[in-house]
Amino acid sequence: MTKLQDKIALVTGAGLGLGGAIAQAMAREGANLVICDIDREALAHTRAAVEAAGRQCLALRCDVSDREAVDAMFAQAAERFGTVDILVNNAARIPSGSKEDLGRRNRHYAYVTTPMPRQSLGIVTSLTDDDWLKWWGVNMHGVFYCTRAALRLMEPRRSGKIINIASVAGLGTGSAHSPGYSASKAGVINLTKTTALDVAGANIYVNAIACGGVMTPPFQQFFATASEAEKNNLLQMIPLGRLGEPSEYASLAVYLASDEHYLVGQVISPNGGYVM
Ligand SMILES: NC(=O)c1ccc[n+]([C@@H]2O[C@H](COP(=O)([O-])OP(=O)(O)OC[C@H]3O[C@@H](n4cnc5c(N)ncnc54)[C@H](O)[C@@H]3O)[C@@H](O)[C@H]2O)c1
Repeated sequence: MTKLQDKIALVTGAGLGLGGAIAQAMAREGANLVICDIDREALAHTRAAVEAAGRQCLALRCDVSDREAVDAMFAQAAERFGTVDILVNNAARIPSGSKEDLGRRNRHYAYVTTPMPRQSLGIVTSLTDDDWLKWWGVNMHGVFYCTRAALRLMEPRRSGKIINIASVAGLGTGSAHSPGYSASKAGVINLTKTTALDVAGANIYVNAIACGGVMTPPFQQFFATASEAEKNNLLQMIPLGRLGEPSEYASLAVYLASDEHYLVGQVISPNGGYVM
């Protein structure tokens, strides 16, 4: 018997990176999947992998920052599968490999790893209103919209698992190069705890994974463009000396989605020793 046999798992942002890996790991454990993303091509790739594992997959284009689209997605999931047993709030806007993002990232890493004159990094003052709102729209509002829609299906059945993909960025200053991202992930961590208390009495388990670095497209882009010194500035902050692979996080998501634990309102942080 597999760990998630015939459970219905909805994974957001399941086209690329970690979300795709989680969806595939859950399929291998016997779950049927609802996957969403804004990237149709990537979504088709994950759908094919889930179906190749012998599981059913409903793939929907959905922007999680759009409340109506989220509600429509859960309605479609309920129509197709009857309910949603597991929600993985993975979709996020994350610091990309854009020139500006890479510039801020490298200034931050150099500042904390290399002796240099103390000065402001000028990061907060360069944030525009539009940028700030985009971080919150996807990373915070999206998690709230999906959580609320999932709970409307889970509460009457007194059963469910919600896994929020947070970040070490939300635990401290590790991503000070991206304050909007960091603050939104700190919000996800608190929403995890408050929701967990709200719904534990209805036998719904809500937990978060505060990921350290994951080798997905944004970091692949960083490693493709950074100098040796810039790469070392990052890697020397991680005691294991490497980023985590998506599979090393996906296995934890499978565990949190299973009935094998007593975890509620916890923030578990696989991070190679970056935060201890
Ligand atoms: N990569 C890292 O080092 C790292 C570190 C800590 C936490 N995380 C978290 O892990 C999760 C996955 O990140 P990743 O590294 O796989 O990133 P990624 O960019 O490879 O994948 C994110 C996916 O989410 C999708 N997406 C973006 N906005 C969306 C929206 N509005 N609606 C629906 N889908 C949307 C993207 O199209 C993409 O497929 C995120 O929550 C991220 O914050 C990643």
